Amino acid sequence: MKKTALITGASSGFGVEFAKLFAKDQHNLVLVARSNDKLQSLAKEITQQYQVEVLVMSKDLSDMTQVQSVYDELKAKNINIDFLVNNAGFGDFGNFDEAEWSKLEQMIDLNIKSLTKLSYLFVQDMKKRGFGKILHVASTAAFQPGPTMAVYYATKAFVLFLGEAMSNELAKTGVTVTNLCPGPAATGFQAAADLGESKLVKGKKLPTAKEIAIFGYKKMNKGSLTVVPGFMNWVNAFAIRFLPRGLVLKMVRSVQDK
Ligand SMILES: NC(=O)c1ccc[n+]([C@@H]2O[C@H](COP(=O)([O-])OP(=O)(O)OC[C@H]3O[C@@H](n4cnc5c(N)ncnc54)[C@H](OP(=O)(O)O)[C@@H]3O)[C@@H](O)[C@H]2O)c1
Repeated sequence: MKKTALITGASSGFGVEFAKLFAKDQHNLVLVARSNDKLQSLAKEITQQYQVEVLVMSKDLSDMTQVQSVYDELKAKNINIDFLVNNAGFGDFGNFDEAEWSKLEQMIDLNIKSLTKLSYLFVQDMKKRGFGKILHVASTAAFQPGPTMAVYYATKAFVLFLGEAMSNELAKTGVTVTNLCPGPAATGFQAAADLGESKLVKGKKLPTAKEIAIFGYKKMNKGSLTVVPGFMNWVNAFAIRFLPRGLVLKMVRSVQDK
């Protein structure tokens, strides 16, 4: 029987590429994001190319009632989720005290609350069935504090820590949790975060969404724990543990600034 993957943030960037990778391996899909038109056209493209079943759910995942409705509607349709890709998320560039509160709150609700709730709901069914793979899209931002993107970095640290602890608790249950921690990559993320002028991305050749998704997909299938694409990203994530925290803050500030 075919397995089913639920992918959040499937209308753009990494999410689109994850959807294609699962479909290529003949898994059915549940695609979730707010942009119904984009999801419908991706669903059409995928069903034509790979002959798998694709269900589109247009939901705002920063609203916990809609998060719950994803689970309830799938239950009502008797659709079991075997792969959960918690990918939807966004950032915001600028000083903490100058940001719009509503945007920060939406970021916390989406990046943290919805990811936690979806994991909480689906992991129980996965455990009962003795199979499940959860992929959390964190970031290299998860490894240190991020002045000028303070809340975003903090949300990704939460994602990483939650995923690592869940993975330990789930040992020997047949359910794995993988934390994918990409550095900057070419997606809609930079525009959504207003990051265009930051030294982090300006004038840099960034990896494609497809390259990152292939890396994360392979690691998830292997059941790896925390994975960082790109050799230098990996070195930085590792080396940061041995540096004084004050120095780390200054370094991050200098690469983030305009
Ligand atoms: N690109 C990077 O440089 C980078 C690096 C490290 C980590 N990441 C992480 O990668 C993940 C995917 O981002 P991306 O780079 O692929 O960016 P993206 O192209 O902007 O995609 C973000 C996705 O999240 C969805 N989304 C945003 N708000 C939503 C909401 N309220 N409810 C439901 N879906 C929502 C968007 O769909 P709708 O707008 O249609 O809702 C879109 O499908 C994020 O968690 C991001 O933090 C990105």
